[in-house]
Amino acid sequence: MTPQHICRFRQPVVALAGVLALAVSGCARTSAAPADAAAADGGKVTVACGATEEWCAAMAAGFTAATGVKAEFVRLSSGEALARIQAGKADAEFDVWHGGPADGYAAAADQGLLEAYVSPNAAAIPDRYKEPKGTWTGVYVGVLGFCANTEVLKEKGVAVPASWQGLLDQGLAKNVGIAHPSTSGTAYTAVWTQVLLNGGSEDGALAYMKKLHPNVLQYSKSGAAPAQQVARGEVGVGVVFSHDCVATREQGFPHLEVSFPAEGTGYEVGGVALVKGAHNPVSAKKYIDWALTPEAQEIGPTVKSYQAPTNPGAKKSDKTVDLAAVKLVEYDSVVAGAAKSALTRRFDSEVAQAPKE
Ligand code: F6P
Repeated sequence: MTPQHICRFRQPVVALAGVLALAVSGCARTSAAPADAAAADGGKVTVACGATEEWCAAMAAGFTAATGVKAEFVRLSSGEALARIQAGKADAEFDVWHGGPADGYAAAADQGLLEAYVSPNAAAIPDRYKEPKGTWTGVYVGVLGFCANTEVLKEKGVAVPASWQGLLDQGLAKNVGIAHPSTSGTAYTAVWTQVLLNGGSEDGALAYMKKLHPNVLQYSKSGAAPAQQVARGEVGVGVVFSHDCVATREQGFPHLEVSFPAEGTGYEVGGVALVKGAHNPVSAKKYIDWALTPEAQEIGPTVKSYQAPTNPGAKKSDKTVDLAAVKLVEYDSVVAGAAKSALTRRFDSEVAQAPKE
């Protein structure tokens, strides 16, 4: 993997109410901090950030505005974040991992890469959205769905898919976009959903993914990329978290339609965690405390990120999926995480190699 370097980019903060000054650079983006913010640990935090670039930037800026502690981030898909945190085991590159499905965090915890931290603010988060020892705590929930380009499907004479079986329709040959589970947490959620729908059988899940393979145009690195492919009309359907389809539709693609599979679908609990050996543990804990507040969890919709907040005190956007209205599988991130390394290796060798770029 080519090492990506975080730009140590600084600029003074202009404290204007409601205005978050975002520092944009060619690689990582940094939110600025006032000079007096230095804490014993350096008064800054470096985040491996697993959601959209816009969400990551808004979170970094929001944290700095709320606490005065400087924050910088690198946007990484789930598998990439895990690999980077592992590579930094002897000298941690990141202080915090924020965003991305919790099964990646569970896999990292199994490898001893995370430090347990039970934030006082975790008390507000329902038990089903956190790991009891504090190796990770949930910050949002997203539901896996299909994102259809109704114009493309109309031309092909194929209906908007309403089931996993429907996605295997031969009329969709080379017309499905999905990411690769070795790099993408979204795609791993899709694979683990198949495990659950096949009575816990990994063989059954891979058999489904092999059947789907002829319909897949390309396995992307990041989970949200297929929504863009669908919007551009390169494929008729994407397997994505439904909020990524909603966000893409808002970018000027009204012919995108979300549907959910009738058999049941998987969901993610987006996590936040302290990286073991973090160079800035005081600031990192401050960041985690903040990420669990309603204030932090209400930032998402301001940048078109419509995951459901885990803090019941946070206001939900009316564009957020109603979790009670979708048939969900019993997704256990800890169990899914324990299986992740071996199952993604099998996917690499039995279904398709991970994308290089
Ligand atoms: O785009 C945002 C998002 O869907 C998050 O909700 C999710 O945690 C993350 O992307 C997954 O990204 P990836 O599949 O690239 O790991």
